[in-house]
Amino acid sequence: MAARARRVPLITPVPTFVRAPLGEEARLFQNICPHSGGPLTASPIPPLSRDGDHLVCQTHGALFRIRDGLCVAGPCLGARLTPWSGEPDRTEASR
Ligand code: FES
Repeated sequence: MAARARRVPLITPVPTFVRAPLGEEARLFQNICPHSGGPLTASPIPPLSRDGDHLVCQTHGALFRIRDGLCVAGPCLGARLTPWSGEPDRTEASR
């Protein structure tokens, strides 16, 4: 009897927070876009603007100032990212 191939779903964990570089420091935000309530990114490395000063939402391209999480362009203009208050651990995608 031939073995049947089993389908195994590919599951990529979506990070619960994003770490954005700010000079020698970093800001941590929940990985939730205030526009849709969905994740800003599915990637462990958050997308940044070309100037490196803004996080970019991968869904509709909103730009969030890293300094304070304020949306400065896009469909949720004036909204803010929520700061991450949890402790980052090594299992989180935070690099
Ligand atoms: S979901 Fe982020 S800008 Fe629309």
